[in-house]
Amino acid sequence: MSTAKGGDGGIESDLSMSPEQMLELARQTAELVVQRIENLSGEGAWEGEFRRELEDRLLKPPPEESRSASQVIEEAAQEILPIALRLDHPRCFGFIPSQPTWPGVLADFMIAGFNVNQCTWLTSSGPSQMELAVIDWFRRWLGYPESAGGLLTSGGSAANLDALVAAREAANHPERASLYMSDQSHSALVKAARVIGIRPERIRMIPTDGRFRMDMDALVETVAEDRAAGLSPIAVCANAGTSSSGAIDPLEAMADYCEAQGIWLHVDAAHGGFAIVTEEGKKVLSGIERADSIVLDAHKWFFQPYEVGGLMVKDVRTLRAFASKCDILQDTIWGANHPNFSDRGLQLSRSVRALKIWMSVQTFGMAAFRRAVSNGMELTHRIEEYVEDSPVLEMLTPATLGIACFRVNPANADLGEDVLEEINKTVLARVFWEDRAFISSTLLHGKFALRMCVINHSTTWNDVHETLEVISKFGTESLTQAD
Ligand SMILES: Cc1ncc(COP(=O)(O)O)c(C=O)c1O
Repeated sequence: MSTAKGGDGGIESDLSMSPEQMLELARQTAELVVQRIENLSGEGAWEGEFRRELEDRLLKPPPEESRSASQVIEEAAQEILPIALRLDHPRCFGFIPSQPTWPGVLADFMIAGFNVNQCTWLTSSGPSQMELAVIDWFRRWLGYPESAGGLLTSGGSAANLDALVAAREAANHPERASLYMSDQSHSALVKAARVIGIRPERIRMIPTDGRFRMDMDALVETVAEDRAAGLSPIAVCANAGTSSSGAIDPLEAMADYCEAQGIWLHVDAAHGGFAIVTEEGKKVLSGIERADSIVLDAHKWFFQPYEVGGLMVKDVRTLRAFASKCDILQDTIWGANHPNFSDRGLQLSRSVRALKIWMSVQTFGMAAFRRAVSNGMELTHRIEEYVEDSPVLEMLTPATLGIACFRVNPANADLGEDVLEEINKTVLARVFWEDRAFISSTLLHGKFALRMCVINHSTTWNDVHETLEVISKFGTESLTQAD
C-alpha cells in the first residue's frame, strides 16, 4: 500500500492531489462551467445523440494507469455533459425546466468538499441546524403551525414516498389501505403507492373536471364505496399543480372533506409549491396549509441544482415511522430536540441539501426569489393573451403556475381531432429540429397539447414571444399542407 505521511503530517495516497493541483483543477472546472452558462443562450436548448455513436466514444474499459486530470475534466465538459437537454436555457420550455443559481451550484461543490454526512446530529450539528432553519422558512411560507416539520429529499418522488409512509402509519387499518388521487396526478405518486405496497386496484384514479381538477363528487362516491367494501382510505392526494397543465385541485373543498372523514390530505406541490412565496401563488394555493403533508421541489421553481425536494408535514411527529434502532448508531442519540434527519425519512447517508437553498437565499434575498417566481407566472399569462389573440392558436385550459397548454387550431377551421393531432405533432417536431427553443407536449383528456413551462429566472418575454411566433408560423404552414 502506498500510503505515506506527508511532510506536514497529512496523509498522501495514490488518490490525493497537492493543494496547488486541486486549486488549478477547481479553477479550470469553474471556468468551463461559467463559459457554458455564458454561451448558453446562443446555442440550442437541446442536444442529443444516438446510443451507437456514444458507445463508440465512451464504452471503454477503465484505464489502469493515471491520465491528466485536466484532460479528463475537459473531456467531461466538452464531450459528455453538453449532450443533453439544457434545462437552464432561457428557451427551455419543455417538461419542467430548472435554472440553478450560482451560489446553489457552489454549495453543491462545497458539500462534496466538506464531505459531511448529514444523517445524525452527532455527525452534522451545524448542517442539521441549517436544515431546520430552511425547513422553518418552508413552514412559514406554507402557513403551517409550529408543530410542523420536515426534511429535504432527493426530489419530489422521494418526498411523496416518505409522505405516503407517514400517512399509512397514521391510518387505522393500513393492511386494508386504499389511496385516492386524480387522473392528472404525477406517476411519482403512483410509484410511491406501489412501493408502500398498495395493490394497484386500490390506487383510485379520480376523474377530473374540464379544467383538470379533481371531481369532488366522484371522490366522495369512490371513498364511500371503498369504505363499504371494508377498505381503509389512508390518504387523498391533491395536486398543486399538475405537471401536465398546472391545474390545482380544489384544496379547500378537499381539506373540508378529509377533515370530516378523518382522512390524511397530502398535497403534491412538487411543481407549483414555491409559488407560495408570491402574492398570486398564495391566492391560488389557498387551503394548502390545511394539508397533513406537502411536497415541494426546490430543484424546480426554487432555482436549485438537482437533487433537492422537500417534504413538510403538519405534525412532525408523524414522521416517527422512520425512526429506527440501529446498534452501530447507538452513540448518535444526542438528546431531546436534536433531531437525526435519518429518523425522518428513508435515507441514512444524506448530503447537506439545505446548503444550496440557504446560500442562494442569503445571497440574493427573498425579494429576488419572489420576482423570479412571479416572472414565470407573468410570462405564462402573456402566452395566454397571445394565444387568445392569435388566429391560429387555441388555449386548451387556462395558464396556471407557469404552465400554458395550447394547440394549433384556427377558429372556424372545423378540423377533426386526428387532423389536429397530426398538425400539432408536426409543429412540435419542427420546433425540435429547426428552432433554438425546446417545448414538449402533453395529453389533456385525450387532446394532444403543445405545452410551455416557463419557470427559468432568466427567460424574457422576447424568448417566449419569438418561440410563439415560430410555433404560429409552423402551424400556419402545416395547415396549408393539410388543405
Ligand atoms: C407534480 C410532480 N410530482 C412529482 C414529481 C417528481 O419529482 P422528482 O422528479 O423531483 O422526483 C414531479 C416531477 O416533475 C412533478 O411535477
